[in-house]
Amino acid sequence: MAKQEVGHNFLARLGKTKLRPGGIEATDWLIQQAKIDSQTKILEVACNMGTTMIHLAKTYGCEITGLDQSTKALEKAKQNIAKEQLGDKITVVQGNALKLPFDDGQFDIVINEAMLTMLTGAAKDKAINEYLRVLKPNGLLLTHDVCILDETSRHEILTGLSETIHVNVEPLTLTEWQACFADKGFTVMQKSGTMSLMDPIGMVRDEGLIGAYKIVHNGLKEENREQFKKMFTFFRKNKEKIGYVAHVNQKRG
Ligand SMILES: C[S@@+](CC[C@H](N)C(=O)[O-])C[C@H]1O[C@@H](n2cnc3c(N)ncnc32)[C@H](O)[C@@H]1O
Repeated sequence: MAKQEVGHNFLARLGKTKLRPGGIEATDWLIQQAKIDSQTKILEVACNMGTTMIHLAKTYGCEITGLDQSTKALEKAKQNIAKEQLGDKITVVQGNALKLPFDDGQFDIVINEAMLTMLTGAAKDKAINEYLRVLKPNGLLLTHDVCILDETSRHEILTGLSETIHVNVEPLTLTEWQACFADKGFTVMQKSGTMSLMDPIGMVRDEGLIGAYKIVHNGLKEENREQFKKMFTFFRKNKEKIGYVAHVNQKRG
């Protein structure tokens, strides 16, 4: 029987560095809105192997704390940070988004990509309340997730996506995502678009030509082929029904 590996761990093992639905198109948009400089204090929740933190520290020279619940992903992050000699700028912490180990009002920006979608029921609200708590007044919460574009297919998408990536997920419609943040008092700006995660053009844009080639090459190896084809087929079949959504949410002062 095939190994039931969680989708983002599987893609990371194949060589993917951006494990998020809208790839760099969405991340770049979020970063552009945030007006970061060397004094900006950033928390990245679900930092995984540290790709976004390294990009931010290199580009802006700012200090970043990265938190993830996976010790394995954090080991990889530490290696990547050391390779880039950014240990003086980036700190990593193992922890849970639902109970952040930080005092109130610490950060100018909290960034959280491709994680809220994986929280079901009340857990989304719990995590968002934690982000609100650790942000300074007027601070920004930047998020990036999966959205449902065709509400009539909600059940099929929830079940199909959970089975495809081997983790329970609960993507929302654009209106529902907006409400998640607005209901907690954030001022919300929203952008959506097509999924780039397993899309050939998106993959080249996110990982470069050689990176994309390596991922596909690894994905087609016998031991990976079944899961790679399952994920590729699901995202292609549902490309009109699901997309990415990015939010810039400002905490009221
Ligand atoms: C799909 S990956 C996204 C990684 C990265 N943000 C990116 O965009 O490439 C989801 C990450 O969320 C982390 N994660 C899931 N639930 C979490 C939680 N409750 N607290 C902290 N991290 C969590 C996982 O360990 C994983 O690294």
